[in-house]
Amino acid sequence: MLVSSMNSGHAGVADWGMGFLNVSMPAAIADLGCGGGRNAAKLMERYPTAKLMALDHSEISVEKTARVNQTAVQSGRCSVLQGDVSDMPFESEAFDLVTAFETVYFWPGPEKSFREVCRVLKKGGTFLIVNESDGENKADEKWMGMIDGMTIHDAKRLTAALKQAGFAEVNVHRDEKKHWLRMTAKKA
Ligand SMILES: C[S@@+](CC[C@H](N)C(=O)[O-])C[C@H]1O[C@@H](n2cnc3c(N)ncnc32)[C@H](O)[C@@H]1O
Repeated sequence: MLVSSMNSGHAGVADWGMGFLNVSMPAAIADLGCGGGRNAAKLMERYPTAKLMALDHSEISVEKTARVNQTAVQSGRCSVLQGDVSDMPFESEAFDLVTAFETVYFWPGPEKSFREVCRVLKKGGTFLIVNESDGENKADEKWMGMIDGMTIHDAKRLTAALKQAGFAEVNVHRDEKKHWLRMTAKKA
């Protein structure tokens, strides 16, 4: 139930975040912390020639993502793996685009995890982060008390972590009314 509700509950912010992407036809995409797999499906719709790797450390998320994207999994276009973003079983420079929707709140570091994202991105590749909480809304702080392991980082903190992890160019965009945050970071 929880992973299904993530698919519907995060759809608005995820689509808003994807609108920030100006990557032309990536060949290989990784969606990290894929949850219920809805965003993996949307990314494959948006980039019809791309192959997609979805990764999550939760077994339930992995099962749900594989079910939601069954046709693409059966055709070999989509793979779903259980694993931790801070230590991924991928070759270096494997992906043109890496996405993270509503998940970096939970990532180890986050510098450690961002270094790992930078490693698996090709040179010139893009990392997209989309968060429903931009770290500027006092009312959102309650979530950190309610959800185990959650830290809401603001754009300044995330920018510093991305630069420390080796990303060259970081772009930030916020919906100030909704306190939504979308960021892209490019590997030089
Ligand atoms: C709030 S959900 C968001 C799911 C999905 N991206 C979405 O937008 O609906 C966060 C997801 O990140 C995953 N996650 C958290 N920490 C992770 C880590 N270190 N490695 C891999 N997945 C992680 C969780 O298992 C969960 O599925």
